[in-house]
Amino acid sequence: MSSRLNILISPGVWDPKPWKEGLSKSDSIGEVHVWPTAANLDEVEMLLVWQPLPAGVIARLPNLKLISSMGAGVDHLLGDPHIPLDIPVMRIVDQYLAIDMTNYVLMSLLIYQRNYHQLIENQQQSHWDRLSYAKVKVGILGLGALGSHLANQLVKSGFEVYGYSRSAKEIEGVQAFHGEQLDDFLARSQVLVNLLPLNDFTQDILNYELLSKLPKGGYLINVARGKHLVDNDLIKLLDEQHLTGAVLDVFREEPLPADHPFWQHEKITITPHVASVTTPHSAINLVLENAERFLNKLPLKYLANLERQY
Ligand code: OXD
Repeated sequence: MSSRLNILISPGVWDPKPWKEGLSKSDSIGEVHVWPTAANLDEVEMLLVWQPLPAGVIARLPNLKLISSMGAGVDHLLGDPHIPLDIPVMRIVDQYLAIDMTNYVLMSLLIYQRNYHQLIENQQQSHWDRLSYAKVKVGILGLGALGSHLANQLVKSGFEVYGYSRSAKEIEGVQAFHGEQLDDFLARSQVLVNLLPLNDFTQDILNYELLSKLPKGGYLINVARGKHLVDNDLIKLLDEQHLTGAVLDVFREEPLPADHPFWQHEKITITPHVASVTTPHSAINLVLENAERFLNKLPLKYLANLERQY
């Protein structure tokens, strides 16, 4: 094996420049190609992917040995039938991803708790009304790297925090549920924040049955993946007044089609998948660390678990 890894980046909508520049500076990295390219890809050993490569391209990488997502999620890679199962797949776990996600959710919670939209409307009408606000009970669905960071920070910010994960987790100040306790968790979650990974177990999990187990007047913040949510079920629960609102950052189809009913729904706030965006200069450190670990035959960090699909 060479002492440097040749990399192919498939950034999709992301700017490849900072990635290419940052990676090229390392002694562990040889050539850095950016897809689409006409270059001969025979020697590519590492793939860095946001947008999955078109069908047939992986077959042109006979030397491929490891793959890294460019973000926290690996659903786009685990679901790609062209990726051989014996190639390790890694994800990005990075402090900025966690901090940015926490800040986004905190912003959404405060807007909800303080009735900020009403305050703005009142200002527009020169109307002085000291709206009251109450404590909010927040349930975090998924206590991985992002969910645990969020839970810790929300406790510090004075929220009553519940968490749910498949296996038991302990986080100071958080009442954590797991396994069969999902319904108990939902019954307490006035605001439900979805931070689950997307896989066969979790696709469509935010459906009518689950969301109707939130307390009446519940609120949804979905910052994980659009395919967790059954769009029409959310609209139905909002229209039936069971839920009072939703903040959605991710969608089944992105960009969200202009004629999608979410855009015009008065109880839905939309942002365009910006809750937490990978910071290249920071994430590159992990990519390089894993490249070096691979070259030195050391265990890789943040490997995706193919069986559990996250
Ligand atoms: C990610 C994302 O997975 O941006 O990092 O959604």
